Amino acid sequence: MTSVKIPRAAIILAAGKSTRMKSARSKVLHDVGGRSMLSWVTDLARSVDAQRIICVVGQANQDVRAAAERLGLQIALQEPQQGTGHAVQCAKAALTGFEGHVAVLYADTPLIEPQTLERVFGTLEHDDVCVLGFEPEDAGAYGRLITQGDRLEAIVEAKDATPEQLAVTLCNSGVIAAGANDLFSAVDRVRNENAKGEYYLTDIVEILNGDGKRAGVVRASETEVMGVNSRSDLALAEQAFQSRMRGRFMAAGVTLRDPDTIYFSWDTQIAMDAEIGANTVIGPHVEIGRKSVIHPFCHIEGAVIGEGVQIGPFARLRPGTQMQDGSKAGNFVEIKKAVIGQGSKINHLSYIGDAQIGVGVNIGAGTITCNYDGYNKHLTQIGDGAFIGTNSSLIAPVKIGAGAYLGSGGVITDDVPDDALALARSKQSHKEGWAARYRAAQAKRKAKNE
Ligand code: UD1
Ligand code: CA
Repeated sequence: MTSVKIPRAAIILAAGKSTRMKSARSKVLHDVGGRSMLSWVTDLARSVDAQRIICVVGQANQDVRAAAERLGLQIALQEPQQGTGHAVQCAKAALTGFEGHVAVLYADTPLIEPQTLERVFGTLEHDDVCVLGFEPEDAGAYGRLITQGDRLEAIVEAKDATPEQLAVTLCNSGVIAAGANDLFSAVDRVRNENAKGEYYLTDIVEILNGDGKRAGVVRASETEVMGVNSRSDLALAEQAFQSRMRGRFMAAGVTLRDPDTIYFSWDTQIAMDAEIGANTVIGPHVEIGRKSVIHPFCHIEGAVIGEGVQIGPFARLRPGTQMQDGSKAGNFVEIKKAVIGQGSKINHLSYIGDAQIGVGVNIGAGTITCNYDGYNKHLTQIGDGAFIGTNSSLIAPVKIGAGAYLGSGGVITDDVPDDALALARSKQSHKEGWAARYRAAQAKRKAKNE
């Protein structure tokens, strides 16, 4: 038997008011692991091949609409917000003619793994509707899943539950999947006769059971399906994300010296046998190659780090940094938008921005690329094997030739030819005996005044 893959769509609910976040920005645009919750959920939908993704927004969340459009999502407006069932109904027009399976996702639930959603869709091979459930430590206000064997009979919201139903520990994560026709036909029949006076999406389970359809449950862990309603939930989600990443990197052969003090972003890539010291923060878009060592207290973002590279301690790598194999950026070095060639060393206290540095270059302590003139940024180029003396100021645009040697303390304004020595400081002169004469004169003056 050949199985034809059934097309998939996702409806992302993001029209809620999110008052508990206490923010001028909509809740779902707050970041977890360096990207917005909306972008996490969008990625989740794409990772299971959802061909159509509809984002339901309210009139008040114009910021969400703009972000969803940038993510390439189709928009459905829900105004006013009359509950999750009503929100799904508002997405119906956008999916006219769509015949496949649809998953409803909440934009405030960022950490669901693709394989979990894949299991939910997989259940639709034998069930008509599937709900993602979990057993939280505290079931609180979550909807309760009323089951009979492996069948799901109904979802009861906490506010509408009897004491026996409240005692049920299996809860609704919010993720529900069904065939498009079943989903929309059931949502059209949802009523709002409940404690909140809202149209609950969760009622579709009972409605579809009444139609003789089959409802099932897939389970996930609490950390995976946790929803974010407040700043403290946001902190918990961040913690859950960080601990997931730490576990993953260690399992993949990365040494983390003190895992709880090392922070990653959603797209951090680290190769086997790399080592990360304590108290390091890695922002978005960072790749770290094999056997590279990040010493403690570094802040790294937007940087590609090759193999066998040494960074820090106390280094700051900003977007556009490229550290080629065997290069080094030591203590209190800041690098931005610069390529540091193979084996080149910037050992101490330097700022290197808008620069192309060749292979085997040595940059002395205190070197500064003066890249900004108050209006524009300019490029500094340093050829292979050049030696930049300590405390050099390189006034960009400027080009230092291969093998050139810069005397310490130079303010370099002109290009330096290959293999030349550049001296750009005033000549040293001596006044013999001056210090002794000065001290004697000062001592005499002080004695007279006392
Ligand atoms: C919902 C579920 C509950 C589940 C819980 C999991 C219902 C009726 N209840 O409750 O069973 O345990 O999530 O977190 O579905 N939204 C809209 N339009 C609306 C209302 C909500 O788009 O009119 C969106 C919100 O932005 C949010 C999501 O739907 O992303 C969930 O809404 P929320 O009000 O937080 O639902 P809960 O009461 O938490
Ligand atoms: Ca919620």
